[in-house]
Amino acid sequence: MGERAPIRLEPWGEDDLPLVQRLMGDPAMTEHLGGPESPEKLAERQARYARPGSGMFKVVDETGDAVGSVGFWEREWRGQKVYEIGWSVLPEFQGRGIAGHATEQAIELAREEGKHRFLHAFPSVDNAPSNAICRKLGFTFLEVCDFEFPPGNPLRCNDWRLNLRAAPEL
Ligand SMILES: CC(C)(COP(=O)(O)OP(=O)(O)OC[C@H]1O[C@@H](n2cnc3c(N)ncnc32)[C@H](O)[C@@H]1OP(=O)(O)O)[C@@H](O)C(=O)NCCC(=O)NCCS
Repeated sequence: MGERAPIRLEPWGEDDLPLVQRLMGDPAMTEHLGGPESPEKLAERQARYARPGSGMFKVVDETGDAVGSVGFWEREWRGQKVYEIGWSVLPEFQGRGIAGHATEQAIELAREEGKHRFLHAFPSVDNAPSNAICRKLGFTFLEVCDFEFPPGNPLRCNDWRLNLRAAPEL
């Protein structure tokens, strides 16, 4: 990433429903994620994120304000347990390298946790910034995959994979 945005990750809090609402309840923010979620889904998501050890983090800037989210979770993929990672940055903070830097930090946490060799990201084929982030952070592009997210909504995504146990490039 050209710029290293001064942000850090914090555990998701009990009072962070407004942040979930802004990230996943907004039509522009969910353009590549199947559209805004219902109030029930948002409340469910908030409860899941706030559970200790959820793997979901709030991205905060140097003033402590929340600017987005990043997190990783376990999923089964092609018969193997892997990590999946996802990220989101509020519109007024986009374009400053925040998602890239936050994702780098989350990758490090997944690597330290060490449960799985592979970490996947599945950005929509149309999500230019997210695909750029995968490329820059050293993910390998595997293939285009057709998902339904949410169920009933077709979503064509790129499967990007990072080997967390590869020797670091010198
Ligand atoms: C995707 C998202 C998180 C990017 O956040 P961001 O903080 O603006 O991203 P960054 O500034 O870290 O980096 C984006 C990279 O994409 C590049 N980029 C941005 N728009 C681009 C475009 N249209 N075409 C190609 N590259 C583009 C940027 O130049 C940057 O690369 P650089 O560091 O080499 O300059 C943000 O747009 C978002 O939250 N979108 C809605 C939620 C979402 O789709 N999440 C992703 C799910 S996988």
